[in-house]
Amino acid sequence: MKDILDEKDKRLRNISKDVVFPLTKEDQQNIKDMLEYLTNSQIEELAEEYNLRPGMGMSAIQLGIAKRYFVVVNEYEEGKFENYVLINPKIISTSEEKIYVEMGEGCLSVNRDVEGIVPRYARVTVEGYNEKGNKIRVRAREELAIAFQHEIDHLNGILFYDHIDKQNPFKDSDKYRPI
Ligand code: NI
Repeated sequence: MKDILDEKDKRLRNISKDVVFPLTKEDQQNIKDMLEYLTNSQIEELAEEYNLRPGMGMSAIQLGIAKRYFVVVNEYEEGKFENYVLINPKIISTSEEKIYVEMGEGCLSVNRDVEGIVPRYARVTVEGYNEKGNKIRVRAREELAIAFQHEIDHLNGILFYDHIDKQNPFKDSDKYRPI
């Protein structure tokens, strides 16, 4: 896999461009690599062996590719993973309720702990395309919903800590539900 860009890399601030189908061979390979990385990174023995930082989602821009796609590998049950590949994704509906990761959100491009509240919708519906160019619609809640919002932010050049209030990182904590 290509190297994951670090937060200091200005390319992460690019606004990624829509993907035109069919996918290039390179994009197909990137998607495969990203899914493999994320899966391995969530399996402790493999993460240790290959020295992988654990992650659940990755956007193409994190590999320096300014195209609107991301993948998420969700461990929905102990040791069981489901893959999501979303191309040209759009959030089409959201819950009223907002949540945040109590431990602090993380990102494979941010190699440090950042504390503070990143408000996210508790539930989202995302529309996009799969690798074949077929339209798909995914409903997500809780952690998976956060992952989708985090990755869609990447496509718009936004990093999670941009949402944290600098003066008061835990501002309005009573308005959101910690998960
Ligand atoms: Ni990230």
